[in-house]
Amino acid sequence: MNLASEQRQWNRLMDLAEIGAIPGNGVNRGALTAGDRAARRLMVGWAAEIGASVSIDEANNLWLRVEGTDSDAAPVLTSSHLDSQPKGGRFDGAYGVVAGLEVITALHKAGIVTRRPIEVVAWTNEEGSRFAPGCTGSMSWAGVHPSDYWDDVRDHNGIYYAAALAEQMAAEADLPRRPLGSKPHAYVEAHIEQGPILEAEGIDIGVVTGIQGSRWFVVSISGESAHAGTAPLSLRRDAMIEASRAILALQEAMYDPKDVLRFTVGRVSVSPNASNSVADNVTFSIDLRHPEAATLRVRGDMIAGVVQGAMRNCEWSVRETFNAKPIEFAPRVISEVERAAENAGFSHRLIPSGAFHDAQFASRVCQSGMIFVPSRAGISHNPAEYTSPSQLAKGTEVLLRTVRALAD
Ligand code: GLV
Ligand code: MN
Ligand code: MN
Repeated sequence: MNLASEQRQWNRLMDLAEIGAIPGNGVNRGALTAGDRAARRLMVGWAAEIGASVSIDEANNLWLRVEGTDSDAAPVLTSSHLDSQPKGGRFDGAYGVVAGLEVITALHKAGIVTRRPIEVVAWTNEEGSRFAPGCTGSMSWAGVHPSDYWDDVRDHNGIYYAAALAEQMAAEADLPRRPLGSKPHAYVEAHIEQGPILEAEGIDIGVVTGIQGSRWFVVSISGESAHAGTAPLSLRRDAMIEASRAILALQEAMYDPKDVLRFTVGRVSVSPNASNSVADNVTFSIDLRHPEAATLRVRGDMIAGVVQGAMRNCEWSVRETFNAKPIEFAPRVISEVERAAENAGFSHRLIPSGAFHDAQFASRVCQSGMIFVPSRAGISHNPAEYTSPSQLAKGTEVLLRTVRALAD
Protein backbone atom coordinates (compact mmCIF):
# COMPACT_ATOMS: atom_id res chain seq x y z
CA MET A 1 0.00 0.00 0.00
CA ASN A 2 1.24 3.47 -0.84
CA LEU A 3 1.34 5.85 2.11
CA ALA A 4 2.39 9.13 0.47
CA SER A 5 -0.42 11.46 -0.61
CA GLU A 6 -0.18 12.67 -4.21
CA GLN A 7 -2.72 15.44 -3.67
CA ARG A 8 -1.27 16.87 -0.45
CA GLN A 9 2.19 16.93 -1.99
CA TRP A 10 0.98 18.60 -5.20
CA ASN A 11 -1.02 21.21 -3.26
CA ARG A 12 2.04 22.07 -1.20
CA LEU A 13 4.23 22.36 -4.28
CA MET A 14 1.70 24.67 -5.90
CA ASP A 15 1.52 26.78 -2.71
CA LEU A 16 5.30 27.12 -2.78
CA ALA A 17 5.23 27.92 -6.51
CA GLU A 18 3.13 31.03 -5.80
CA ILE A 19 6.05 32.49 -3.88
CA GLY A 20 8.22 34.19 -6.48
CA ALA A 21 5.96 33.12 -9.36
CA ILE A 22 7.03 34.41 -12.80
CA PRO A 23 5.26 34.18 -16.18
CA GLY A 24 5.10 30.77 -17.81
CA ASN A 25 4.59 28.84 -14.53
CA GLY A 26 8.11 29.59 -13.39
CA VAL A 27 9.61 30.65 -10.10
CA ASN A 28 12.22 33.25 -9.21
CA ARG A 29 13.04 32.64 -5.56
CA GLY A 30 16.64 33.58 -4.92
CA ALA A 31 18.44 32.32 -1.85
CA LEU A 32 18.11 34.50 1.26
CA THR A 33 15.38 36.72 -0.24
CA ALA A 34 11.98 37.57 1.20
CA GLY A 35 10.54 34.85 -1.05
CA ASP A 36 12.93 32.29 0.35
CA ARG A 37 11.87 33.30 3.86
CA ALA A 38 8.19 33.00 2.95
CA ALA A 39 8.74 29.52 1.48
CA ARG A 40 10.56 28.45 4.65
CA ARG A 41 7.67 29.77 6.78
CA LEU A 42 5.28 27.55 4.85
CA MET A 43 7.53 24.57 5.66
CA VAL A 44 7.62 25.56 9.33
CA GLY A 45 3.81 25.71 9.41
CA TRP A 46 3.46 22.29 7.76
CA ALA A 47 5.99 20.82 10.18
CA ALA A 48 3.99 22.18 13.12
CA GLU A 49 0.88 20.34 11.87
CA ILE A 50 2.59 17.03 12.60
CA GLY A 51 4.55 18.09 15.67
CA ALA A 52 7.95 17.98 13.94
CA SER A 53 10.56 20.09 15.68
CA VAL A 54 12.08 22.94 13.69
CA SER A 55 15.54 24.48 13.98
CA ILE A 56 18.13 26.37 11.94
CA ASP A 57 21.93 26.24 12.01
CA GLU A 58 24.38 29.10 11.49
CA ALA A 59 24.40 28.50 7.71
CA ASN A 60 20.60 29.02 7.81
CA ASN A 61 19.87 25.42 6.80
CA LEU A 62 16.32 24.66 7.97
CA TRP A 63 15.85 21.37 9.84
CA LEU A 64 12.58 19.54 10.56
CA ARG A 65 12.91 16.50 12.82
CA VAL A 66 10.64 13.70 13.95
CA GLU A 67 11.87 11.44 16.71
CA GLY A 68 12.27 7.69 16.35
CA THR A 69 11.76 5.04 19.01
CA ASP A 70 15.51 5.36 19.62
CA SER A 71 16.07 9.08 19.71
CA ASP A 72 19.79 8.66 20.39
CA ALA A 73 20.26 6.78 17.11
CA ALA A 74 21.82 8.67 14.20
CA PRO A 75 18.98 10.05 12.03
CA VAL A 76 18.18 9.44 8.40
CA LEU A 77 18.34 12.71 6.46
CA THR A 78 16.29 13.62 3.41
CA SER A 79 16.38 17.05 1.83
CA SER A 80 16.86 19.42 -1.05
CA HIS A 81 16.57 23.20 -1.51
CA LEU A 82 13.88 25.89 -1.74
CA ASP A 83 15.88 28.51 -3.65
CA SER A 84 15.49 28.67 -7.43
CA GLN A 85 17.21 29.95 -10.53
CA PRO A 86 16.18 33.49 -11.64
CA LYS A 87 14.16 31.88 -14.45
CA GLY A 88 13.57 28.61 -12.65
CA GLY A 89 10.83 26.04 -12.50
CA ARG A 90 8.51 24.90 -9.72
CA PHE A 91 10.17 21.57 -8.97
CA ASP A 92 13.96 21.92 -8.97
CA GLY A 93 14.72 21.63 -5.26
CA ALA A 94 11.23 22.34 -3.92
CA TYR A 95 10.18 18.83 -4.90
CA GLY A 96 12.81 17.15 -2.73
CA VAL A 97 11.98 19.26 0.31
CA VAL A 98 8.23 18.73 -0.06
CA ALA A 99 8.79 15.01 -0.71
CA GLY A 100 10.75 14.77 2.55
CA LEU A 101 7.95 16.57 4.34
CA GLU A 102 5.44 14.21 2.73
CA VAL A 103 7.44 11.24 4.05
CA ILE A 104 7.26 12.40 7.66
CA THR A 105 3.66 13.57 7.23
CA ALA A 106 2.49 10.25 5.77
CA LEU A 107 4.31 8.24 8.44
CA HIS A 108 2.80 10.45 11.14
CA LYS A 109 -0.73 10.04 9.75
CA ALA A 110 -0.24 6.28 9.55
CA GLY A 111 0.99 6.17 13.15
CA ILE A 112 4.34 4.72 12.06
CA VAL A 113 7.42 5.57 14.12
CA THR A 114 10.76 4.41 12.76
CA ARG A 115 13.61 3.36 15.02
CA ARG A 116 15.89 6.20 13.92
CA PRO A 117 14.78 9.84 13.89
CA ILE A 118 14.10 11.34 10.46
CA GLU A 119 15.30 14.81 9.56
CA VAL A 120 14.15 16.88 6.57
CA VAL A 121 16.46 19.72 5.56
CA ALA A 122 16.05 22.70 3.26
CA TRP A 123 19.66 23.61 2.44
CA THR A 124 20.65 27.25 2.00
CA ASN A 125 21.59 28.53 -1.47
CA GLU A 126 21.90 25.34 -3.48
CA GLU A 127 21.54 27.10 -6.82
CA GLY A 128 24.34 29.61 -6.49
CA SER A 129 22.53 31.91 -8.93
CA ARG A 130 22.12 34.82 -6.53
CA PHE A 131 25.30 34.11 -4.57
CA ALA A 132 27.90 31.99 -6.37
CA PRO A 133 28.74 29.22 -5.85
CA GLY A 134 25.87 26.89 -5.01
CA CYS A 135 25.58 24.41 -2.14
CA THR A 136 26.92 26.87 0.43
CA GLY A 137 24.55 25.48 3.09
CA SER A 138 25.43 21.84 2.57
CA MET A 139 29.15 22.62 2.18
CA SER A 140 29.11 24.45 5.53
CA TRP A 141 27.28 21.57 7.19
CA ALA A 142 29.67 19.02 5.68
CA GLY A 143 32.68 21.01 6.89
CA VAL A 144 34.02 21.81 3.42
CA HIS A 145 34.20 25.52 4.30
CA PRO A 146 33.10 27.54 7.34
CA SER A 147 29.74 29.29 6.99
CA ASP A 148 31.44 32.73 6.74
CA TYR A 149 33.65 31.59 3.84
CA TRP A 150 31.41 33.33 1.25
CA ASP A 151 30.83 36.54 3.28
CA ASP A 152 32.36 38.75 0.57
CA VAL A 153 30.37 37.29 -2.34
CA ARG A 154 27.95 39.86 -3.76
CA ASP A 155 24.71 39.49 -5.71
CA HIS A 156 23.77 41.52 -8.82
CA ASN A 157 22.72 44.43 -6.60
CA GLY A 158 25.96 44.47 -4.63
CA ILE A 159 24.43 42.89 -1.51
CA TYR A 160 26.92 40.79 0.43
CA TYR A 161 26.21 37.16 1.27
CA ALA A 162 27.08 37.96 4.89
CA ALA A 163 24.44 40.70 5.00
CA ALA A 164 21.75 38.57 3.36
CA LEU A 165 22.52 35.66 5.67
CA ALA A 166 22.43 37.91 8.75
CA GLU A 167 19.12 39.40 7.60
CA GLN A 168 17.55 35.99 7.19
CA MET A 169 18.92 34.70 10.51
CA ALA A 170 17.45 37.81 12.21
CA ALA A 171 14.08 37.29 10.51
CA GLU A 172 14.09 33.75 11.87
CA ALA A 173 15.26 34.66 15.37
CA ASP A 174 12.17 32.92 16.76
CA LEU A 175 13.35 29.53 15.42
CA PRO A 176 15.53 27.41 17.74
CA ARG A 177 19.21 27.06 16.80
CA ARG A 178 21.11 23.85 16.36
CA PRO A 179 24.85 23.36 15.98
CA LEU A 180 26.26 23.23 12.46
CA GLY A 181 27.27 19.75 11.31
CA SER A 182 26.01 16.32 12.28
CA LYS A 183 26.66 12.68 11.55
CA PRO A 184 23.53 11.07 10.12
CA HIS A 185 23.15 7.37 9.48
CA ALA A 186 22.24 7.97 5.84
CA TYR A 187 21.13 10.64 3.37
CA VAL A 188 18.61 10.36 0.51
CA GLU A 189 17.51 13.19 -1.78
CA ALA A 190 14.59 13.13 -4.21
CA HIS A 191 14.90 15.43 -7.25
CA ILE A 192 13.57 15.86 -10.75
CA GLU A 193 15.95 14.39 -13.33
CA GLN A 194 16.44 17.70 -15.21
CA GLY A 195 17.35 15.63 -18.27
CA PRO A 196 15.46 13.66 -20.93
CA ILE A 197 16.36 10.02 -20.22
CA LEU A 198 13.59 8.76 -17.91
CA GLU A 199 10.81 10.29 -19.98
CA ALA A 200 12.28 9.02 -23.26
CA GLU A 201 12.47 5.50 -21.88
CA GLY A 202 9.09 5.66 -20.10
CA ILE A 203 10.69 4.89 -16.73
CA ASP A 204 9.24 5.98 -13.39
CA ILE A 205 12.30 6.15 -11.17
CA GLY A 206 15.97 6.96 -11.67
CA VAL A 207 18.21 5.25 -9.15
CA VAL A 208 21.07 7.71 -9.10
CA THR A 209 24.54 6.19 -9.16
CA GLY A 210 26.60 9.35 -8.69
CA ILE A 211 27.14 12.97 -9.67
CA GLN A 212 29.64 14.34 -12.16
CA GLY A 213 32.21 16.86 -10.98
CA SER A 214 31.82 20.63 -11.34
CA ARG A 215 34.31 23.47 -11.21
CA TRP A 216 33.30 27.12 -11.24
CA PHE A 217 35.61 30.01 -12.13
CA VAL A 218 35.32 33.77 -12.30
CA VAL A 219 37.38 35.41 -15.05
CA SER A 220 38.03 39.12 -14.84
CA ILE A 221 39.36 41.15 -17.78
CA SER A 222 40.53 44.71 -17.14
CA GLY A 223 41.20 47.37 -19.78
CA GLU A 224 40.52 51.08 -19.91
CA SER A 225 37.31 53.02 -20.33
CA ALA A 226 37.28 55.44 -23.26
CA HIS A 227 34.91 57.55 -25.38
CA ALA A 228 33.12 55.47 -28.02
CA GLY A 229 33.13 58.34 -30.50
CA THR A 230 36.70 59.52 -30.19
CA ALA A 231 39.04 56.70 -29.10
CA PRO A 232 40.61 55.01 -32.15
CA LEU A 233 40.20 51.23 -32.10
CA SER A 234 43.94 50.75 -32.42
CA LEU A 235 44.53 52.57 -29.13
CA ARG A 236 41.80 50.95 -27.05
CA ARG A 237 42.20 48.50 -24.20
CA ASP A 238 38.71 47.11 -24.67
CA ALA A 239 37.79 44.56 -21.98
CA MET A 240 34.64 43.55 -23.88
CA ILE A 241 36.48 42.60 -27.04
CA GLU A 242 39.16 40.70 -25.13
CA ALA A 243 36.60 38.89 -22.96
CA SER A 244 34.72 37.85 -26.10
CA ARG A 245 37.94 36.53 -27.59
CA ALA A 246 38.70 34.66 -24.37
CA ILE A 247 35.24 33.06 -24.26
CA LEU A 248 35.48 31.83 -27.84
CA ALA A 249 39.03 30.54 -27.28
CA LEU A 250 37.83 28.69 -24.17
CA GLN A 251 34.88 27.19 -26.04
CA GLU A 252 37.33 25.83 -28.58
CA ALA A 253 39.83 24.60 -25.99
CA MET A 254 37.06 22.77 -24.12
CA TYR A 255 35.93 20.91 -27.22
CA ASP A 256 35.27 17.26 -26.38
CA PRO A 257 34.76 14.91 -29.36
CA LYS A 258 32.72 12.64 -27.09
CA ASP A 259 30.47 15.59 -26.10
CA VAL A 260 30.63 14.61 -22.43
CA LEU A 261 32.32 17.73 -21.10
CA ARG A 262 30.02 20.65 -20.24
CA PHE A 263 31.25 24.23 -20.56
CA THR A 264 28.99 27.21 -19.83
CA VAL A 265 29.52 30.95 -19.58
CA GLY A 266 26.20 32.02 -18.05
CA ARG A 267 26.93 35.25 -16.27
CA VAL A 268 28.69 38.35 -17.55
CA SER A 269 29.04 41.73 -15.91
CA VAL A 270 30.34 44.75 -17.74
CA SER A 271 31.66 48.03 -16.40
CA PRO A 272 30.73 50.79 -16.92
CA ASN A 273 28.00 49.05 -18.95
CA ALA A 274 27.18 52.06 -21.10
CA SER A 275 26.56 52.09 -24.86
CA ASN A 276 29.04 54.85 -25.56
CA SER A 277 31.88 53.87 -23.24
CA VAL A 278 34.56 51.27 -23.97
CA ALA A 279 34.33 48.62 -21.25
CA ASP A 280 37.09 48.85 -18.64
CA ASN A 281 36.12 45.60 -16.94
CA VAL A 282 34.30 42.43 -17.93
CA THR A 283 33.81 39.59 -15.50
CA PHE A 284 32.36 36.28 -16.60
CA SER A 285 31.59 32.94 -14.99
CA ILE A 286 32.66 29.49 -16.15
CA ASP A 287 30.78 26.34 -15.17
CA LEU A 288 32.78 23.27 -16.19
CA ARG A 289 31.62 19.68 -15.63
CA HIS A 290 32.82 16.18 -16.34
CA PRO A 291 32.22 12.78 -14.72
CA GLU A 292 35.95 11.95 -14.55
CA ALA A 293 38.05 13.71 -11.93
CA ALA A 294 41.23 13.63 -14.03
CA THR A 295 39.59 15.19 -17.10
CA LEU A 296 37.92 17.86 -15.01
CA ARG A 297 41.23 18.67 -13.35
CA VAL A 298 43.18 18.89 -16.61
CA ARG A 299 40.58 20.93 -18.50
CA GLY A 300 39.96 23.25 -15.57
CA ASP A 301 43.67 23.82 -15.12
CA MET A 302 43.91 24.88 -18.80
CA ILE A 303 41.61 27.85 -18.33
CA ALA A 304 44.15 30.40 -17.12
CA GLY A 305 46.51 29.66 -20.03
CA VAL A 306 43.75 29.97 -22.60
CA VAL A 307 42.59 33.30 -21.18
CA GLN A 308 46.14 34.60 -21.15
CA GLY A 309 46.63 33.52 -24.77
CA ALA A 310 43.53 35.48 -25.83
CA MET A 311 44.72 38.79 -24.37
CA ARG A 312 46.23 41.59 -26.48
CA ASN A 313 46.58 44.49 -24.06
CA CYS A 314 44.19 43.86 -21.17
CA GLU A 315 44.94 42.48 -17.72
CA TRP A 316 43.27 39.30 -16.60
CA SER A 317 42.71 37.04 -13.60
CA VAL A 318 41.06 33.66 -13.10
CA ARG A 319 39.69 32.61 -9.71
CA GLU A 320 38.22 29.22 -8.89
CA THR A 321 35.12 29.49 -6.68
CA PHE A 322 33.76 25.94 -6.57
CA ASN A 323 35.18 22.47 -6.90
CA ALA A 324 32.77 19.58 -6.42
CA LYS A 325 34.56 16.33 -7.17
CA PRO A 326 32.67 13.59 -9.03
CA ILE A 327 31.14 11.19 -6.52
CA GLU A 328 29.60 7.73 -6.50
CA PHE A 329 26.72 7.02 -4.18
CA ALA A 330 26.82 4.32 -1.49
CA PRO A 331 25.97 0.80 -2.73
CA ARG A 332 23.71 0.28 0.30
CA VAL A 333 21.59 3.34 -0.47
CA ILE A 334 21.50 2.55 -4.20
CA SER A 335 20.24 -0.96 -3.46
CA GLU A 336 17.63 0.32 -0.98
CA VAL A 337 16.30 2.73 -3.62
CA GLU A 338 16.19 -0.08 -6.19
CA ARG A 339 14.43 -2.38 -3.77
CA ALA A 340 11.92 0.33 -2.82
CA ALA A 341 11.07 1.00 -6.48
CA GLU A 342 10.79 -2.70 -7.20
CA ASN A 343 8.52 -3.36 -4.20
CA ALA A 344 6.31 -0.41 -5.12
CA GLY A 345 5.93 -1.83 -8.62
CA PHE A 346 7.59 1.10 -10.41
CA SER A 347 9.93 0.78 -13.38
CA HIS A 348 13.44 1.98 -12.60
CA ARG A 349 16.94 2.26 -14.02
CA LEU A 350 20.37 3.34 -12.85
CA ILE A 351 21.25 6.88 -13.93
CA PRO A 352 24.11 9.33 -13.29
CA SER A 353 23.44 12.98 -12.43
CA GLY A 354 24.70 15.77 -14.66
CA ALA A 355 23.42 18.41 -12.25
CA PHE A 356 25.11 18.92 -8.92
CA HIS A 357 23.14 18.53 -5.72
CA ASP A 358 23.64 18.92 -1.98
CA ALA A 359 23.90 15.13 -1.94
CA GLN A 360 27.38 15.60 -3.44
CA PHE A 361 28.51 17.05 -0.10
CA ALA A 362 26.35 14.81 2.08
CA SER A 363 28.19 11.87 0.54
CA ARG A 364 31.34 13.11 2.30
CA VAL A 365 29.58 12.75 5.64
CA CYS A 366 27.50 9.56 5.43
CA GLN A 367 26.21 6.89 3.06
CA SER A 368 24.13 8.79 0.50
CA GLY A 369 21.96 8.40 -2.57
CA MET A 370 19.33 10.09 -4.73
CA ILE A 371 16.04 9.32 -6.44
CA PHE A 372 15.09 10.94 -9.78
CA VAL A 373 11.66 11.36 -11.33
CA PRO A 374 11.15 12.23 -15.03
CA SER A 375 11.32 15.79 -16.34
CA ARG A 376 9.09 16.61 -19.30
CA ALA A 377 11.30 16.97 -22.39
CA GLY A 378 14.27 17.09 -20.02
CA ILE A 379 13.66 20.81 -19.45
CA SER A 380 14.99 22.43 -16.26
CA HIS A 381 16.35 25.78 -15.09
CA ASN A 382 13.42 27.03 -17.14
CA PRO A 383 9.84 28.01 -16.19
CA ALA A 384 8.53 25.19 -18.40
CA GLU A 385 10.00 22.54 -16.07
CA TYR A 386 7.25 19.96 -15.42
CA THR A 387 6.70 16.62 -13.75
CA SER A 388 3.14 15.33 -13.24
CA PRO A 389 1.59 14.91 -9.79
CA SER A 390 1.58 11.12 -10.16
CA GLN A 391 5.20 10.97 -11.32
CA LEU A 392 6.21 13.08 -8.33
CA ALA A 393 4.15 10.88 -6.01
CA LYS A 394 5.93 7.76 -7.26
CA GLY A 395 9.28 9.29 -6.41
CA THR A 396 8.03 10.19 -2.96
CA GLU A 397 6.70 6.70 -2.37
CA VAL A 398 10.15 5.34 -3.22
CA LEU A 399 11.71 7.95 -0.92
CA LEU A 400 9.38 6.95 1.91
CA ARG A 401 10.18 3.26 1.54
CA THR A 402 13.91 3.97 1.29
CA VAL A 403 13.93 6.23 4.33
CA ARG A 404 11.95 3.68 6.31
CA ALA A 405 14.28 0.86 5.35
CA LEU A 406 17.30 2.93 6.37
CA ALA A 407 15.65 4.13 9.57
CA ASP A 408 14.44 0.78 10.90
C1 GLV B 1 22.30 22.79 -9.96
O1 GLV B 1 21.42 23.63 -9.99
C2 GLV B 1 23.23 22.66 -11.02
O2 GLV B 1 23.58 23.68 -11.64
O3 GLV B 1 23.63 21.54 -11.33
MN1 MN C 1 18.21 21.33 -7.60
MN1 MN D 1 19.03 23.87 -10.07
